[in-house]
Amino acid sequence: VMTAPLYAEIDLNRLPRHVAIIMDGNGRWAKQHKVKVALGHRTGTETLREIIRSSSDIGIEALSLYAFSTENWARPTAEVEALMQLILDFFASEIDELDEKNVRITILGDKDALPPRQRDVLREAERRTLENTGLRLNIAINYGGRAEITNAVNAFIRENPGKKITEQDIACRLYTAGQPDPDLIIRTGGEMRLSNFMMWQSAYSEYYSTPVLWPDFGEADLQEAIAAYQLRTRKFGGTVKK
Ligand code: FPP
Repeated sequence: VMTAPLYAEIDLNRLPRHVAIIMDGNGRWAKQHKVKVALGHRTGTETLREIIRSSSDIGIEALSLYAFSTENWARPTAEVEALMQLILDFFASEIDELDEKNVRITILGDKDALPPRQRDVLREAERRTLENTGLRLNIAINYGGRAEITNAVNAFIRENPGKKITEQDIACRLYTAGQPDPDLIIRTGGEMRLSNFMMWQSAYSEYYSTPVLWPDFGEADLQEAIAAYQLRTRKFGGTVKK
């Protein structure tokens, strides 16, 4: 039963199966509001909660969120520490409800290189929700798209020395193994680039950029992006069937 309010004209029978979001603009939002960047990220975490709930309510199969890239370590120490703390706070406050809502959490990225507390919290969230069958929630933390592909290729070579590699051999060794590729990739904050996010999986994704800053993004904006997606004609390199 559909419980979420509808703000845009979207066809619930033709939803994107997998939506991925590059959550950008927390820093600019903080600047606009004359607050510390950490508060921008904290407010962005509220958006994250709303968008997860909304995606689950609408009936999206998979939602991927880019929270922390391998390049983000280069940010000022205080900002990196604030983001690391937000990861702990987010899972501490949300994991019960997410599990109850049948959400299955997968972390995209190298957990082993994270501080031990973050690593353990993320591992535990994955373990606890492994059998859940609702929304597939992928959170990219310490993630890089080229590294993901490189790791997959290296794993294949280790397991199959001397053998020729196929696309399927790569796909099944990515963090998203077994999941559909993203149909729609949304970027907030107005930039128009992928920033090393889902380099392999995005080959045929529809791309949507909105100037709305991530802390200001809401359920209605998500629905507007889905409505725009539903107006696109997807060809996957072929021609359109009439
Ligand atoms: C980009 O904004 C956003 C990030 C680098 C972090 C996104 C993380 C969250 C929204 C929350 C933390 C994650 C979890 C899982 C709790 P920016 O600072 O680059 O914005 P700017 O381009 O305006 O400077």
